[in-house]
Amino acid sequence: MEALQIIVAIFILALASSLTFASDPSPLQDFCVAINDPKGSVFVNGKFCKDAKLAKADEFYFSGLHIRKNTSNIFGSTVTPVNVAQMPGLHTLGISMVRIDYAPNGGLNPPHTHPRASEILVVLEGTLHVGFVTSNPDNRLISKVLYPGDVFVFPVGLIHFQYNIGNTYAVAFAGLSSENPGVITIANAVFGSNPSINADILAKAFNLDRKMVKNLQSEF
Ligand SMILES: *[C@@H]1O[C@H](CO)[C@@H](O)[C@H](O)[C@H]1NC(C)=O
Repeated sequence: MEALQIIVAIFILALASSLTFASDPSPLQDFCVAINDPKGSVFVNGKFCKDAKLAKADEFYFSGLHIRKNTSNIFGSTVTPVNVAQMPGLHTLGISMVRIDYAPNGGLNPPHTHPRASEILVVLEGTLHVGFVTSNPDNRLISKVLYPGDVFVFPVGLIHFQYNIGNTYAVAFAGLSSENPGVITIANAVFGSNPSINADILAKAFNLDRKMVKNLQSEF
């Protein structure tokens, strides 16, 4: 009997903590404009919010997503984020968005994950080969070629990419289910960490010789 009660208690605790930490918090008020200086602010939902009476339209506003960004970089892609860092009114709302520009003939948004968000992407211009890989043990690649008007979803936490296989610029917009989705670019995190991961560890993990690991580490 006592054991059963303990199991029930553990179950309830597990449920409660999953409700608390599984996703961005639900707002307990209309909005909570993020503020860095806690002076003149109220403390709601575990965060500092600007006094609601002082909120301004500009804190719920961003301009410039119509502009094509320069994609002359090593990957040939540029992400323009609109998350809580650019739009303080997003705080506690659990959503954000990005514009992504891809250079013609191979512009790549390289394999990366968003630890806190699923991403739903719509192509406006161009032709993108997109995909994500399922978790262990299957590691199945789920991929598709997208054309203007096509929509694809990348589930939370999974490694995904988009690659411009057309000979024109490509443009996509995406919505993300967090005010602060986070980005982990796989190559940068693994081969470009600061300080570096010991080359012997990466050589073993990737079945590469140490010299190749050193080369990769110098690239990222
Ligand atoms: C794009 O960026 C590259 C590299 O920084 C620069 O050389 C080029 O002039 C830029 N192009 C435009 C149109 O601004």
